[in-house]
Amino acid sequence: MIQRKKFLQLLLEDGALAPRLRLLRFAGKMLVPSYRFKWPQLDWWKNEEFTHYLDRFGELRVLNTDRKWMVHQLLRLVSHLPGDTAECGVFRGATSYLICSANEESQAEDKTHHLFDSFEGLSEPGPADGVHWSKGDLKCGIEHVRKALSDFAKVRFHPGWIPDRFQDVDDRKFSFVHIDVDLAEPTRQSLAFFYPRMEPGGIIVCDDYGQSTSPGATQAVDRFLADKPEKMLMLPEGGGCLMVKTPTANAARLQQRITTC
Ligand SMILES: C[S@@+](CC[C@H](N)C(=O)[O-])C[C@H]1O[C@@H](n2cnc3c(N)ncnc32)[C@H](O)[C@@H]1O
Repeated sequence: MIQRKKFLQLLLEDGALAPRLRLLRFAGKMLVPSYRFKWPQLDWWKNEEFTHYLDRFGELRVLNTDRKWMVHQLLRLVSHLPGDTAECGVFRGATSYLICSANEESQAEDKTHHLFDSFEGLSEPGPADGVHWSKGDLKCGIEHVRKALSDFAKVRFHPGWIPDRFQDVDDRKFSFVHIDVDLAEPTRQSLAFFYPRMEPGGIIVCDDYGQSTSPGATQAVDRFLADKPEKMLMLPEGGGCLMVKTPTANAARLQQRITTC
C-alpha cells in the first residue's frame, strides 16, 4: 500500500496537470507501478480526422494509437517516391487503410497497395516466439478487410501463408512496407523478400520490433540486419522503423570498404 506521505507528494507534483490526471497517475502507480504516463498536451490527439479514422477501426479502445500515428507520419516521408506499398499481416486492415489513403494523395503515380495475410490468423509460433501467441490468434476474414478498404481502387489481396504469395509481386519495387505478423519466421521471410526490393529511401516498419510479446520478431530483425548498413530504430511507443538505402547507409558501406582494404 502506498504511504500517506508519498500520496501527498504525488498529488502535489506537476502542478500544471489537471487534478484528474494526477489522480489517474496515482491510481496507475498503485496498480501498475512500472507504467509510465506521458504528458497529454499532444496536438495529434486533437486531430479530428485522425480520431475519426481510429474510431472507425475500433482503435480508440485499444492501445496502439501512437503506432498508427507514427505510420501516418512516416508515410509522408515516402510520398514522393515511386514504388508500390505492402503490408504483411493485415488483420482488420486499419494500417492498410492509412497506407492506401497516403497512396491516393501521393505525388508519385500508380502506387498499388499489396496485402499479404493468411486471413486465418497467426501461423504456429516457433521456439523463439515465447508464450504470448497461439496459432489462429488475430484471425479476421478477407471479406471484412475487402469491405474496410472498399474506398480504394489500387489494392491487391494475396491471401495465403507468408511467403507463399510473395511471388505475385516478384518484379515490383516498394516505397513502404509494414511488417506486422508477430512471429519470428514470417517476419524473417517478409524482410528477406522486401528488403532487396525497396526503392532508395523507402521505409520498412516492423510493428513488433522491441515488443516483449514478440521476442522472435525482434530477434529475426536483428539477425537479418546484422550484416546490413541500415539500423532498425526502436520507436518509443513500440515498433521499429528502418529507412533503406539512404545516403547514411551508403556512407556506412563505403566506410566498411575502406576499413577492409
Ligand atoms: C497483429 S495482426 C496485424 C495488424 C495490422 N497490421 C494492423 O495494423 O491492424 C497480425 C496478422 O498477421 C497475420 N499472420 C500471422 N502469421 C502469418 C503467416 N505466417 N502468414 C500470413 N499471415 C500471418 C494474421 O492473420 C494477422 O492478421
